[in-house]
Amino acid sequence: MSTFHVLLVWALVQAIPFLAVSILLSDCAYPSGYGDGSGNCVGVADVSLKPQRREADENENIFDITHKFTPHTPVGDSTEGIGQFLTLLTSMKNGSDYNFSEMKLPVHSGTHVDAPGHMYDNYFDEGYDVDTLDLRVLNGPALLIDVPRDKNITAEVMKSLNIPKGVRRVLFRTLNTDRRLMYKKEFDTSYVGFMKDGAQWLVDNTDIKLVGIDYLSVAAFADLIPSHLVLLRGRDIILVEGLKLDDVQPGIYSVHCLPLRLVGAEGSPIRCILIKELKAISRKSLRLDGRVSAEGWVQDIIFIEGLKLDDIPTGLYSVPLRLVGEGGSPIRCILIK
Ligand SMILES: *[C@@H]1O[C@H](CO)[C@@H](O)[C@H](O)[C@H]1NC(C)=O
Ligand SMILES: *[C@@H]1O[C@H](CO)[C@@H](O)[C@H](O)[C@H]1NC(C)=O
Ligand SMILES: *[C@@H]1O[C@H](CO)[C@@H](O)[C@H](O)[C@H]1NC(C)=O
Repeated sequence: MSTFHVLLVWALVQAIPFLAVSILLSDCAYPSGYGDGSGNCVGVADVSLKPQRREADENENIFDITHKFTPHTPVGDSTEGIGQFLTLLTSMKNGSDYNFSEMKLPVHSGTHVDAPGHMYDNYFDEGYDVDTLDLRVLNGPALLIDVPRDKNITAEVMKSLNIPKGVRRVLFRTLNTDRRLMYKKEFDTSYVGFMKDGAQWLVDNTDIKLVGIDYLSVAAFADLIPSHLVLLRGRDIILVEGLKLDDVQPGIYSVHCLPLRLVGAEGSPIRCILIKELKAISRKSLRLDGRVSAEGWVQDIIFIEGLKLDDIPTGLYSVPLRLVGEGGSPIRCILIK
């Protein structure tokens, strides 16, 4: 017997317990989603296989700030939410070897991003779609702040927030989070957002390029079009809407937001996470500087009590959509050197 054959026999012997388990369970009624590819399901009786849906990891170091997509996910102009957005084209319950779904989703529903083509017809024609959005803006140090609960975001409110120059990414938490508006399927026009003068103040007086907010639109309904026009005109500000900002301390995080590469789309579902770099920091204890790099974009350099945090941690970030009840999802992956 050659070494190869010895190894083969050894491998088969090793596999017997696993084969036996899958044969035993091969016609269980509720596939786990982790089957071996031939219509089987594995270990359904084992509760440890129950998937976990997490809002943060055990150490509260990574926060998921994306809302789940379900039929009740809200969308503008609907009282019923997005409705049934997943269709099983091929199903294991009907004898197929695998489940295979199709999704149909309004691009401005749930947690999503707006591209400049959303409000400017000529930008749309020129191709300013979500595929052209700058990943350097969508990923990097970000400030999560609370906005006064009694007003929309006007110039006066923006001024009062004292956001230092050099801060490029801000997630605005508002009354919308307290009212849990994103958890309601009915679109609610009384949400808090930017008034036109607040949007103009942001453009004129800050370095903010990523504007995140906790309802479906950054613009208050009363200034829906004017505020969007002000923010999207320069094509350098990215709007992330419908964020889930509950149960996260205000402070500095590393934000990672990845839209799908939908060519020709002026919006896209987006998955956003916050990674805690340091213990929660109050706004007062931080000092930020902006510097223009060779490529002409402002790079963040954040100094926190003597600590220097140069841009973002290296690593692989891969962010699937939050589709509930689904075995697969489009995914966006990036590598940071
Ligand atoms: C596969 O499809 C069946 C319906 O035929 C469904 O009950 C099951 O939950 C699906 N599994 C996954 C992982 O989506
Ligand atoms: C399975 O097939 C039946 C009959 O064609 C159909 O009514 C049902 O919707 C199918 N179920 C799934 C989950 O595909
Ligand atoms: C914000 O503006 C909307 C109209 O767009 C209004 O219904 C709502 O009451 C305002 N919210 C606050 C807190 O002033």
